[in-house]
Amino acid sequence: MTESTKSATLKIGDKSVELPMFTPTSGPEVIDIRKLYSQAGVFTYDPGFTSTASCDSTITFIDGDEGILTHRGYPIGELAEKSHYLEVCYLLLYGELPSPTELEDFEDLVTNHTMIHEQMINFFRGFRRDAHPMALLVGVVGAMSAFYHDSTDINDERQREVASIRLIAKMPTIAAMAYKYTIGQPFIYPRNDLDYASNFLRMCFAVPAEDYVVDPILSRAMDRIFTLHADHEQNASTSTVRLASSSGANPFACIAAGIACLWGPAHGGANQACLEMLKEIGTPDRIPEYIARAKDKDDPFRLMGFGHRVYKNFDPRATVMKQSADEVLELLGVENNPTLQVAKELERQALEDPYFADKKLFPNVDFYSGIILEAMGFPTSMFTPIFSLARTVGWISQWKEQLNDPQLKIGRPRQLYLGEDIRSYVDIEKR
Ligand code: SDX
Repeated sequence: MTESTKSATLKIGDKSVELPMFTPTSGPEVIDIRKLYSQAGVFTYDPGFTSTASCDSTITFIDGDEGILTHRGYPIGELAEKSHYLEVCYLLLYGELPSPTELEDFEDLVTNHTMIHEQMINFFRGFRRDAHPMALLVGVVGAMSAFYHDSTDINDERQREVASIRLIAKMPTIAAMAYKYTIGQPFIYPRNDLDYASNFLRMCFAVPAEDYVVDPILSRAMDRIFTLHADHEQNASTSTVRLASSSGANPFACIAAGIACLWGPAHGGANQACLEMLKEIGTPDRIPEYIARAKDKDDPFRLMGFGHRVYKNFDPRATVMKQSADEVLELLGVENNPTLQVAKELERQALEDPYFADKKLFPNVDFYSGIILEAMGFPTSMFTPIFSLARTVGWISQWKEQLNDPQLKIGRPRQLYLGEDIRSYVDIEKR
């Protein structure tokens, strides 16, 4: 970390506190407040962490004003166009693009760990068939700590590596099993002669009664969707994984916590909520009614798939996703998909509306992804499990980075207490 030539002086009453600053590779400088409480006896106050850097990281950078997203320095647009998901996984995990041999070895390693412990099938059977697949994902991934005891010691580098590969390799199998379980179809085992995305599609859509050939258009689109969701700096679910890991919790428990957080409609659950919203709107003539509702402070309705804590410009992932939606739907012969037409018209009208322009609300990664996923045959309930599957490598990369930080401390925020002052207990007879 590079100390800035500048420092910050905080005047508190008649006291002054000098705080060092650090200079990033890119992005805002930071004020180091670690010693603020001990020096000045005050806390900072930042619910929602709108102005707080929770850590330092070398993995992903976002410039929200410019609409820039890079992974280890490589722009997401280039990775989506020229790379593929497992290569992006290697980049996120190890910091550099792999050599041909490194890539082949990594892909072999992941491919040969896609099966789950057979006993875990019984674990699935405890769920109701109408459970949301995300409920199964949270439960089954958390339960991995009960099946893979030999990769739960976070102080053992080898075990950390084994747990990382197991999670990346097995998440598609678990997500596909969650889908199959909820539609009452038999589980389909992974195959080692298929690439990562094709394997997932086959595990979701094949049935034992007939052969299933993966459509290369779909597997390319699926792989690109995985890449676009792989990591995103210190978003809510990644911060959840980091906080859970700071207590020393095992990797499977930490990733299960991340899945639980991602499920929320303000976060990863927005892709499901967005498609449901687009279908509720139904036709372009109803768009003005929904835009009016989104602008109404008394109406809790928000345009799902719009807005972002960091992006105050186009989410670069949404740009790629929109192009991919056009390509995939045309190749699938559903280019006149009514939901896509509503989405495009909604985007046009919203971006022309001063409310959205003034608040810098643009489509985010969740605005177009659901349209592609639905066209590929997925129900809306599988949208967030697919987001979880893709983000597993981001959570794991950030988890590993934090565990390698010699300054790692348990995360323990403080608070601004506004409750009752100290008072004595009153016996019930006197109340
Ligand atoms: C993801 O953080 C990440 O990196 C997340 C993610 C990742 O890859 O990990 O990018 C994935 O979660 C994308 C976001 C998906 N969520 C949605 O699409 C849900 C709809 N969006 C909003 O709920 C909202 O935009 C958030 C949650 C995404 C961001 O909320 P913020 O940063 O806390 O902003 P805010 O709620 O304070 O909104 C600022 C203003 C408010 O108006 P005022 O109170 O200032 O008058 O903008 C308004 C909001 O009411 N606003 C919206 C809106 N989003 C914000 N108004 C209508 N529709 C919206 N979608």
